Amino acid sequence: MTSKTSTSTSTTPADTQTDTHDTRDTHTTPAGTNIDNLLHETRRFAPSDEFRATAVATEELYERASGDRPAFWGEQSKTLLHWHTPFTRTLDWSNPPFAKWFDDGTLNVAYNCLDRHVKAGNGDRIALNWEGEPGDSRSFTYSELTAEVKKAANVLISLGIGQGDRVAIYLPMIPEALISMLAVARIGAVHSVVFGGFSAESLRARIDDASAKLVITADGGWRKGKVSPLKPAVDAALALPGTNTATGTGDTTPGTHTVTNVLVVKRGNNPVDWNPDLDLWWHDELANANPEHEAQPFPAENPLFILYTSGTTGKPKGILHTSGGYLTQAAFTHKNVFDLHPETDVYWSTADVGWITGHTYVVYGPLANGATQVIYEGTPDVPHPGRWWEIIEKYKVSILYAAPTAIRTFMKLGRQIPDAFDLTSLRLLGSVGEPINPEAWVWYRDVIGGGTTPIVDTWWQTETGAIMISALPGVTTLKPGSAQVPLPGLDIQVLDDQGNPVPKNSGGLLVVAEPWPSMLRGIWGDPDRFVETYYSQFPGRYFAGDGARLDRDGDIWLLGRVDDVMNVSGHRLSTAEIESSLVSHPRVAEAAVVGASDETTGQAVVAFVIVRASQEGDLVQEIDVLSAELRVHVATQIGAIARPRQVFIVAELPKTRSGKIMRRLLRDLAEGREIGDTTTLADTQVMNIISGSIAR
Ligand code: WT7
Repeated sequence: MTSKTSTSTSTTPADTQTDTHDTRDTHTTPAGTNIDNLLHETRRFAPSDEFRATAVATEELYERASGDRPAFWGEQSKTLLHWHTPFTRTLDWSNPPFAKWFDDGTLNVAYNCLDRHVKAGNGDRIALNWEGEPGDSRSFTYSELTAEVKKAANVLISLGIGQGDRVAIYLPMIPEALISMLAVARIGAVHSVVFGGFSAESLRARIDDASAKLVITADGGWRKGKVSPLKPAVDAALALPGTNTATGTGDTTPGTHTVTNVLVVKRGNNPVDWNPDLDLWWHDELANANPEHEAQPFPAENPLFILYTSGTTGKPKGILHTSGGYLTQAAFTHKNVFDLHPETDVYWSTADVGWITGHTYVVYGPLANGATQVIYEGTPDVPHPGRWWEIIEKYKVSILYAAPTAIRTFMKLGRQIPDAFDLTSLRLLGSVGEPINPEAWVWYRDVIGGGTTPIVDTWWQTETGAIMISALPGVTTLKPGSAQVPLPGLDIQVLDDQGNPVPKNSGGLLVVAEPWPSMLRGIWGDPDRFVETYYSQFPGRYFAGDGARLDRDGDIWLLGRVDDVMNVSGHRLSTAEIESSLVSHPRVAEAAVVGASDETTGQAVVAFVIVRASQEGDLVQEIDVLSAELRVHVATQIGAIARPRQVFIVAELPKTRSGKIMRRLLRDLAEGREIGDTTTLADTQVMNIISGSIAR
């Protein structure tokens, strides 16, 4: 709950506890399926002999990882990556929870993703098949991509960017997004990619938090059949007052910021304002750039990127990842979970580079492994609802990695759409971002995978950097709806509130009990929040924020978040962040936001607001207008993904005697269920009042 008088979050560890119980006692997954029904899912899919015959990962991998885990990762790292200076140490956990991996080794992340494949004779292999939304396309071989990144690296250097400097990237899904990220990595700088759907305000907060020196953007990109402008949002962001964070300039004067240049890719051809003091065209700079650039080695723990994600407070967390350990696990998981055969496979992850999936499974994992991949700029239904399937047919995609929300949307449209395309090139499907319900799983396999492809349901987070729980497709007998087993080399457990592992057939909280190579190294500028958020619940062990259940075989079923974090279409949103956006509107006195289960998006944002007393008189007739206005307000302030599905104007909010909002009751209302136990409410009549105002 957030109110005018108290705009900070009211979530304390004690509050989270209450919600923890709420979530697990109902045993409901975010998609609204009852977990007890799920656990009766009996369909099983063993790997076919044909798949097994060429599988990259075999049973033996678990055996090899079963002893000394850091030593296992050390072996993997040496096999998968090129180290300029080989490391002699694996894990340093002398200052938990601040891990160091391979810390006396040096490497260059971009060299690993580019030059070494060219040196190995694979320069002519296609790295990237890019498909623009309007139907234009571009391809890059590894040699060509390397050449572009070298030029871009020289441009960055000429703009004064060096090791450790932060570069904000605010681009559509175009090749320049990958080229920018790799160029930043190549010179040892740190990228902070901000999803193009985020607002100017959100972009500015991220620029300030990281004190970014440079912004790389585009005039605009194609989305939903038209050009969606980006450069104007950068201009607006830089004109805003600063957010005065600990790590920013500390100066809140409008127009004062840390950015010294804005590099602009021409993509949308939409008109843009030009500030000659800051703005530079990407194509001009690259055309004049020196094509030679030799990659220098950097320490394994050199920061690689910051990526912001929502937590339980209103302020997004800058999750920090470093180089050697991250790239090791990115490459390892991409190869073994997706069964990658780089000479023959065509891989496609539909994620945007604005999310962690786009970092690890569009940029770093696939390119470190020398894969050939497809990337697509636009939306799945433009210009027609078969666009994804058309792309798979065109490029003969063999591995597809997508989100359950997309699968459920296609399911609703009907199988006649994918059936019109040749999808026989597909041999493996992946799922990520939220639990995939068994019906969607089986549809995905039958209709998209021709009834034969394995599906890997991969659990992980922005913080984990890479996949943590997943089947191995040549080994595991698949169970629709369950992410199943920790990957080799990881210690993942389900614990009760006291920190004891739960027995089979019961639920608890998901933790990672030992450090792993691609783990976050902290929250940018806020080490205390890092320890508090992840390592205070169970000291020494990483608390993921998810509830989970072990079935009778010991397989893991994810039950969704146990904190005030929602999962909408596989994207993480904070209730507190949306609440503070709502109360920043002049008409709103108090707001409470819940994630209500939604058939397509998993969860949807539902808001309950109390409007300011002085203005209540003229309310009745304009409730619809105001609630529409508030939805737009949130979308403008945070980004379209945060726009509430519904905003209910209510007279009261349900609170306990200590003033804590009982979200569980609001969730009951939002999901149209009978209201649960109200005995702990300060005023037990309040739910009748609220139901009354919603019905009105
Ligand atoms: C949260 C992390 C990992 C990339 C995309 C999201 C949920 C993620 C699964 C899955 C059930 C999943 C969890 C997690 N989640 N994958 N396979 N099954 N839940 O990254 O934004 O950092 O969100 O997404 O709740 O905590 P993210």
